[in-house]
Amino acid sequence: MIKDLGLCKAAAAAEEMEQVAAAGEEEEVPKAQFSDRVPIRSIISRGDGGSGLAGRKARVGGWVKTGRKADKDAFAFLEINDGSCAGNLQVIVEASVAELGQLVPTGTCVVVDGRLKLPPAGTKQKIELRADKLLHVGSVDPAKYPLPKIRLTLEFLRDFVHLRSRTNTISAVARIRNALAYATHTFFNKEGFLYVHTPIITTSDCEGAGEMFQVTTLLSEAERLEKELLQNPPPTEVEVEAARFVVQEKGEVVSQLKAAKASKQEIGAAVDQLKKSKESLAKVEERFKLKPGIPKKDDGKVDYGKDFFARQAFLTVSGQLQVESYVCALSSVYTFGPTFRAENSHTSRHLAEFWMVEPEIAFAELKDDMNCAEAYVKFMCQWLLDNCLEDMQFVADKFDKGCIDRLKLVASTPFIRVTYTEAVEILEDAVKNGKKFENEVKWGIDLASEHERYLTEVKFQKPVIVYNYPKEIKAFYMRLNDDLKTVAAMDVLVPKVGELIGGSQREERYDVIQSRIKDMGLPLEPYEWYLDLRRYGTVKHSGFGLGFERMILFATGLENIRDVIPFPRYPGRADL
Ligand code: 4AD
Ligand code: MG
Repeated sequence: MIKDLGLCKAAAAAEEMEQVAAAGEEEEVPKAQFSDRVPIRSIISRGDGGSGLAGRKARVGGWVKTGRKADKDAFAFLEINDGSCAGNLQVIVEASVAELGQLVPTGTCVVVDGRLKLPPAGTKQKIELRADKLLHVGSVDPAKYPLPKIRLTLEFLRDFVHLRSRTNTISAVARIRNALAYATHTFFNKEGFLYVHTPIITTSDCEGAGEMFQVTTLLSEAERLEKELLQNPPPTEVEVEAARFVVQEKGEVVSQLKAAKASKQEIGAAVDQLKKSKESLAKVEERFKLKPGIPKKDDGKVDYGKDFFARQAFLTVSGQLQVESYVCALSSVYTFGPTFRAENSHTSRHLAEFWMVEPEIAFAELKDDMNCAEAYVKFMCQWLLDNCLEDMQFVADKFDKGCIDRLKLVASTPFIRVTYTEAVEILEDAVKNGKKFENEVKWGIDLASEHERYLTEVKFQKPVIVYNYPKEIKAFYMRLNDDLKTVAAMDVLVPKVGELIGGSQREERYDVIQSRIKDMGLPLEPYEWYLDLRRYGTVKHSGFGLGFERMILFATGLENIRDVIPFPRYPGRADL
């Protein structure tokens, strides 16, 4: 037996020598440029699965997905993943190299030096690493680690947003999300759009829907003051009177000295005293006025003049209005940033903080806008097929068998375009034929998610652009059509998600937009700057907003939007 083992070892050594020789002079696999290890991706994601690297040395680091000891604890098999790709590298550590018990728990971080080897024939890996030195262990107590190696639901993982990126699903989603962001910048850059950073803190309500989170320091200021006044109580009226009396006294001393023609020096000293007493009176009076609580104006309303920005401010619901000021100079622009909505929605399609991609195009009508939206969505689908297939295959296996076919379909077939009026007719026909909707269908309603999904999933089974909506249900900035009943709005609806994009041609006519703002009961004052864009050098322009998380839902087929953003914010929840 021992003899056999010796023979085996000799054969293995010979094989190793051969592999090293085959590898030639470049013995070590090059490390990542900015970290001290070879990314696992550059080993296993090669065309040959890494087999061509057999015999070469490599330093790798990652987190143990699965670890087990084998052959009576003579060595351990570790499947490690470093997030550079979906796949794991199998690392074999002999007991002579490290204490194996500390390496095998799921979640352990290891860095090892070793040599890449071809695994025995018949195994699924194309390459594995035989460790000869352990450089780092970030150990894990399996009794305490919150993510044990059992199947964990996405819902359970939401309680551990700081650790869930270690799971296969969340890391695949992170790579897909990254790819879509890169695709977005690539697409708009290629089409000559300029990326503009619009503000996150704003004083205008873009959608006029009153769903904004307020940004204020009044509350924390009030709390600070309350605490301070407790520690250091404000002066009483008696103390203020006393301070006034001192000023009066000092004033009298000065008058008396002047009347007695006292020396300049004496008068000067008394004037100094008077000044000091006035200063301390001013301070006492100032503190006397301090009142705990939120500052109020005489009419009882909150005095936002005392707030940080000397006016009311909010987190933006959309960068559109500000990006419009850039489109009226730079012609093709887009913004891509976080947006915030204080709507109390508990659905699987809504977040309180989400990311939106908002292109804006000058010299463009609704048709151009729809063409741009369609081209952009198609581009992203093709991009995932070209650049993210491994992760897409993972989500297809685990969540949605049809997601890759869906990407192919969307990338290659024209979107359906129907007017709102046609869409309502289609829905009414469906109702006549027995389809039941929770929300009544009639011209004038805001299409509910069930209606949108019927159109895109059942009726057409592909993306649908619905355009020309009733003006009453859309925002003030959308261009009024000649029928005076509808606006040049468009929504892109996609299977699995419903509304993915909302956009419109913008109202560029000064008189019309002014009366639209008034008709909607919005104040003109905060929009004066926006009206300036129509007063001076107005231009036809159009744009849209794509909900970035909804795009990820659509691509991956995951069910809940809370799982496709790293740190979801929704009513009652804002962890970290
Ligand atoms: O349709 P919306 O409200 O349009 C706008 O905000 C325009 N100002 C955009 C523009 O024309 N520049 O929002 C655009 C998209 C929706 O179609 C949807 O995909 C997404 O943003 N969205 C949300 N995504 C996640 N959670 C929410 N609460 C969302 N609200 C809108
Ligand atoms: Mg919308």
